[in-house]
Amino acid sequence: MSQQYYKELIQLLDQSYAPYSGFNVASIIVCNDGGVYKGVNVESAAYPTTICAERNAIHTAVTNGVKKGGVQEVHILARNDTGSLIRAFPCGSCRQVIAEQSSNDAIVYCYNENGDVVMHTIVELLPFAFLGDEL
Ligand code: THU
Repeated sequence: MSQQYYKELIQLLDQSYAPYSGFNVASIIVCNDGGVYKGVNVESAAYPTTICAERNAIHTAVTNGVKKGGVQEVHILARNDTGSLIRAFPCGSCRQVIAEQSSNDAIVYCYNENGDVVMHTIVELLPFAFLGDEL
């Protein structure tokens, strides 16, 4: 299945809007209800308003009714400004949102230019996560 997502990620990269960095990112989220949601990074001339691909996908999942804890898998592929596919890991902000929306048990799949995948649990990527229990 991950090779199917890899193919879809390659196509999805073309939807990325990244004229400032030239760094395209695509993400596919798989949820516990069987839902699959896609996201790309969308940059802005006001740079900090840029949204990452992973959060775009998760926000779409939530918009479509996925509840906290529903995110199970996060698939990620990037392409740099020379057009080469490249492995990317989620930024800190995305790790926070992945942890919170997955009940801290998501698996993150990061692909390289050959489709080789590196898998990490979100706990590996964000140990000691702040999940809101203290609020
Ligand atoms: N980016 C993502 O979409 N996901 C990440 O996890 C890291 C960074 C995007 C944001 C920006 O459009 C570009 O990559 C360069 O930082």
